[in-house]
Amino acid sequence: MFTRPVPADRLPDLLRAMPKAELHMHIEGSLEPEQMFEFARRNSVALAYSSAQAVREAYVFDNLQSFLDIYHAGTMVLKTEQDFYDMACAYFARAQADNVTHAELFFDTQTHTGHGLSAATVINGLHRACDDAPAKYGLTASLILCFLRHLSEAEAFACLEEAMPLRDKLVGIGLASSEVGHPPEKFAKVFARAKQLGFRLVAHAGEEGPPEYIWNALDILKVERIDHGVQAIKDSRLMQRLIHDKVPLTVCPLSNLKLRVYSNLSQHNIGRMLDAGVVATINSDDPAYFGGYINENFTQTFAALGLNSDRAYQLALNSINASFIDATERARHVDRLNEVFETFR
Ligand code: ADE
Ligand code: ZN
Repeated sequence: MFTRPVPADRLPDLLRAMPKAELHMHIEGSLEPEQMFEFARRNSVALAYSSAQAVREAYVFDNLQSFLDIYHAGTMVLKTEQDFYDMACAYFARAQADNVTHAELFFDTQTHTGHGLSAATVINGLHRACDDAPAKYGLTASLILCFLRHLSEAEAFACLEEAMPLRDKLVGIGLASSEVGHPPEKFAKVFARAKQLGFRLVAHAGEEGPPEYIWNALDILKVERIDHGVQAIKDSRLMQRLIHDKVPLTVCPLSNLKLRVYSNLSQHNIGRMLDAGVVATINSDDPAYFGGYINENFTQTFAALGLNSDRAYQLALNSINASFIDATERARHVDRLNEVFETFR
């Protein structure tokens, strides 16, 4: 860790400049209203809004479900492999501007197969963008297929089956969508199968749902990271478990604010989580819907909570260590992180 803190007035520059991994973002949630209109035009899909501004004005949410309803409507404009490629490239350009050097993208095939697309259309488009990302955007990227937890386990099995011919294009399996009422154990068998198949495993838990969902994601689904996990703070035994086992949490502060998990960013618990020794990271979740990409999440959170440059280093390092890259790549990312911090001392 760095002994001499970076002065507060240089913190915003440091937050942007430091290389970081983004581990919790839904690529469909990066679809900006302008791009939504572009895809609607080229695919002849009618939109319920008159302008991109009108779309943005509709982005007022009461909770996770009210967001998911609008998010789902937005995905209706995605029709072709090229749409998925273009959407991912647009995100990579934004991520590069925030010095993201590695990204692990969530996507939900079931949303799109539910509209009549094939899993191959989705996965091939996204994967081609990931393949092009190092040369075009200076970052590496991989894909995590999320099952939709409001659907059945049998449907998750069918989704896994359809993705299997493209297995080499995916690094992991996750669990997303409406949390409360759809506990992790509903997906015990399909996660066991995914583990057998060699997928890395993650799950959303403790976004709105209780600490018990986090326990069960760890103990029943055997996930390696928890997406969100902010409700863990209500259970001191669970906090000890997360700290002891170094379970990473992929926290998304602006998402939590927009979905009213917290009424104000100054109430967010990520500072307390870090103080307690939890391996927390900062991510954007659905940046087009929640008011900002990863750097916006960093700068607003740091300003609201008064976090310092040691915390910035910790968060960037946590993101690299919690990612699914190999040891050689990890060492390269840490070296770059240290180099950037040196220039700010
Ligand atoms: N899908 C997209 N964003 C999500 C979130 N924040 N929680 C659960 N599922 C999601
Ligand atoms: Zn999410």
